[in-house]
Amino acid sequence: MRKLAAGNWKMNGNAAALAELTALTEAHPAPACDMLICPPATLIAQAAWATKGTRLAIGGQDCHPKASGAHTGDISAAMLKDACASYVILGHSERRADHGETDELVLAKALAAVEAGLVPVVCLGETEAQRDAGQTLAVIGEQLAGSVPAGSTAATLVIAYEPVWAIGTGRTPTLDQIAEVHSFLRVSLMKQIGGEAAGVRLLYGGSVKPSNAAEIFAVGHVDGALVGGASLKAADFGAIVAAL
Ligand code: G3P
Repeated sequence: MRKLAAGNWKMNGNAAALAELTALTEAHPAPACDMLICPPATLIAQAAWATKGTRLAIGGQDCHPKASGAHTGDISAAMLKDACASYVILGHSERRADHGETDELVLAKALAAVEAGLVPVVCLGETEAQRDAGQTLAVIGEQLAGSVPAGSTAATLVIAYEPVWAIGTGRTPTLDQIAEVHSFLRVSLMKQIGGEAAGVRLLYGGSVKPSNAAEIFAVGHVDGALVGGASLKAADFGAIVAAL
């Protein structure tokens, strides 16, 4: 399986920031892993154009479950595809918190993404209170069962485990905690979609940076990373790419 280094720019970046993508592709013309950057929607088409012919894929950060219609301010999966995106992040904890997204909605979005020819990167993760209460695997199991399309294959699904308390905080779970969740994800996914689960990339996300990337990537069933802050600068993200 080719591992995946994915960057989520969140609500950051402007046209000038596209220079970071050029710097990244110039520094890593033939990376050992797949590379993906998900800039804000305003930059997707420009980013795809700027990176055309390189090994860097471009993705969206969300999509609407419907293909078109009267949904002011929303963007469909088909529109992302038309802008030359190839992946879309779905169910990020910031969207679950800021926009009340449920597993059911994330599932509908994932189905729409696959229908449009995009690969959904479905995000899951527990809050600190849930971890402290010993509910981590139960929460993640429920999110997985509720938001992953039946019939997903290794080519049509990426999962990102992002503990909410590790996002943007500089805190990370122990390597044993990451290993426990990723093994649980693999086994649970096997039960849900069968043998294809062996090839589904399971990303870890939450305060990944150049200094901790290698040790996290050495954990079993960690097939890459979903990186926030450290994806904004080509040098930092490039160092994470090099660690995979
Ligand atoms: O989607 C990536 C993310 O939530 C992790 O953010 O800044 O902790 O790497 P960060």
